[in-house]
Amino acid sequence: MGDKHTEWERWAKNYDDDLKTWMSINDSEVLREFDFTGKDVLDVGAGTGRFSCRIASIAKTITIIEPCEAMINIAKERLRGQKNLNFSRSTLESFNPDKSYDMIIISELLHHLDIQNQAQFDKLFNSLRKDGLLIVLEPIKVNLIRFIWKLAIKNFCSFGISKGSKMLTEMLNPRVIKHVSCDRYLTKDQIHGLFINNNLRTRKHINDNFYLISMVKG
Ligand SMILES: C[S@@+](CC[C@H](N)C(=O)[O-])C[C@H]1O[C@@H](n2cnc3c(N)ncnc32)[C@H](O)[C@@H]1O
Repeated sequence: MGDKHTEWERWAKNYDDDLKTWMSINDSEVLREFDFTGKDVLDVGAGTGRFSCRIASIAKTITIIEPCEAMINIAKERLRGQKNLNFSRSTLESFNPDKSYDMIIISELLHHLDIQNQAQFDKLFNSLRKDGLLIVLEPIKVNLIRFIWKLAIKNFCSFGISKGSKMLTEMLNPRVIKHVSCDRYLTKDQIHGLFINNNLRTRKHINDNFYLISMVKG
């Protein structure tokens, strides 16, 4: 599946450990803001199924799309026994939704997509039910040093020395630095531009460091 996907095959085993403090903070924020109870959810580029795992017992169904074999195998293993899940080993581009969803979550994925390919975003919009929510969690393009600095200040202030230090240690891991410095990140305007054509209204804009927005289909 090409170089981009080999990166994920290599990282799959360490991915959760490398980013666990960071991700748990982001996940908690999403879970505080949105109620997934009884919803049909699509998790696009679900990786190791980290987020799906958090909502598996409350969502009605979860459809997981993930192209990387090593990643999706971890997701299948950790969600084993859960009856309300569907797994599709595919990219967003090749995914053919056969149902509609109340909530679609795209976490840390946009910067891996070909953003010129509008058809893939239209496909998401079409599979969202009326009043359905699209939740986007995405790092945004900023100066890397300023980003880490802001993140450190914010985390030491909000979460204390212990969690703040864990967070910084995660950021300084070479695998994470390589990923974060990849220069594929989008600006906020670019992110909005991807969905604006589809008349999705921004419902809530929550977090600036890690950009978390939700858009509702009217
Ligand atoms: C940074 S990880 C994020 C995983 C998960 N969403 C999370 O928040 O932990 C990006 C994931 O997107 C997957 N991915 C890459 N290109 C994709 C594509 N075109 N369509 C769907 N998923 C893709 C990768 O295999 C990887 O597992």
